[in-house]
Amino acid sequence: MNLYSKLKTHRTREITFPMVRIYTLKDLSFMLVHIPKVLNSEQLALVRTKLDHAGAAWVDGRVTAGFQGAPVKNNQQVEELSPIAHELGDLVLALIERNPRFISACLPKAVYPPMFNRYSEGMNFGNHVDGSIRIVPGSGRRMRTDISVTLFLTDPSDYDGGELQIEDSFGMHSVKLDAGDMIVYPASSLHRVTPITRGTRVACFFWVPSMIRDEGQRTLLFEMDNAIQILNQTGADEAARSTLVGNYHNLVRMWAEA
Ligand code: NI
Repeated sequence: MNLYSKLKTHRTREITFPMVRIYTLKDLSFMLVHIPKVLNSEQLALVRTKLDHAGAAWVDGRVTAGFQGAPVKNNQQVEELSPIAHELGDLVLALIERNPRFISACLPKAVYPPMFNRYSEGMNFGNHVDGSIRIVPGSGRRMRTDISVTLFLTDPSDYDGGELQIEDSFGMHSVKLDAGDMIVYPASSLHRVTPITRGTRVACFFWVPSMIRDEGQRTLLFEMDNAIQILNQTGADEAARSTLVGNYHNLVRMWAEA
């Protein structure tokens, strides 16, 4: 075997080795994260009962839509300053603040007060990108929207249509989760909610300004944290684990706006 064929064999083996993932920075620049069971069945029942009896607090969803969103938005939402929005928003905030997967995926600097929306038959939200800056009602505080979050509150068997469709450079992702489950996706993405053809879809939604503004950096940190958790659970070498944990924190220190 000559040198060339050795090299070739070696290179081929490296590239096809099953543990090797080859990515470019572009591949890493987009992340959808499914966070299951944010609400348990009792919490879900409580939230749904209160929303279903919110009466006049439900208003036309266009009240918070911007120039791009208003013409394509056709849904209802709970008035942001209503007592019911505060009460249920606080409940959701208390749960996500303790959710390790949410914290790891978002590295939140703050969280926009959660809002609630409803799509009945024939309603939809056409193609749009979420507004980049939102002003928190009541406080006047500005927040950059790095991440969009949808928490599904209706069982998928109770409605048809109403899929959250998110576009990226690889195509379209269609998301319809169990009630109580949440999806985290880049606010910079083009997305839509398809028309409801049966039933009603209720959801909670909000935005997150992240300490890590760059989506690619945030994705790297999320994957690194997941790998560290697996090493912790499998009792991997202590010194190597400590080094990786240190590297994780030092990368956060390098990149974060705290
Ligand atoms: Ni949106």
